[in-house]
Amino acid sequence: MKGLRVRVAGMGLACTIAAVGASAAKPAPDASQAARIQALEQRIAELEKRTQPELGQQMLMLELRHDRLWWAGEAGNWNLAYYMAGEMNEAVQGIIETNGDAAELQPQKLSEIMPSMLTVPMKNLLDAIGTHDKAKFAKAYDDLSAACTGCHGVAGNPMLVIGRPKTPLLDDLHYAPLPQKP
Ligand code: HEC
Repeated sequence: MKGLRVRVAGMGLACTIAAVGASAAKPAPDASQAARIQALEQRIAELEKRTQPELGQQMLMLELRHDRLWWAGEAGNWNLAYYMAGEMNEAVQGIIETNGDAAELQPQKLSEIMPSMLTVPMKNLLDAIGTHDKAKFAKAYDDLSAACTGCHGVAGNPMLVIGRPKTPLLDDLHYAPLPQKP
């Protein structure tokens, strides 16, 4: 601990006063400290960038959810369709939360465009699933796909056209409804 030697006037005595006050003990930040802080800030920014999910990867997951949703509805497996719609909604919310400022959509904000384009078609899809009507489901699904494609157009990627799948991306999941319990 650093001390302060004080000569008491006239008495020839010296005493050591421990520098206990925080303000007395803390030296003003010098140039090397400032440089260290700057280096740490840079490192944090780099780490943040590394943990930022890539929008293309998130879209691939969304594509998978979109695909599975189709097969569940097509099979008339409404429990599974409802589940898949929920998973797709979670994927969409995840994108909005983690990539709301995605560079791909600038100057527009993904956090605004995505809900404005998908909320209504996704709600209609849930309603259609609730009716257990395949024709309604197919129509709502096509509307949702059109909304996906619409945003790709806004984002300058009109070649990313989303539609009904022809073959399941993963076929180890059974789509046929489970037999009804008597
Ligand atoms: C808010 C706008 C927006 C919406 C809504 C949207 N996308 Fe995307 N999507 C993008 C952007 C931007 C890219 C390009 C990403 C990139 O360049 O990495 C993309 C890319 C993709 C890709 C290509 C990914 C790759 O790297 O191979 C697929 C597949 C995709 N989206 C599927 C979907 C599906 C399915 C939906 C609807 C359920 C959807 N997207 C809705 C903006 C959107």
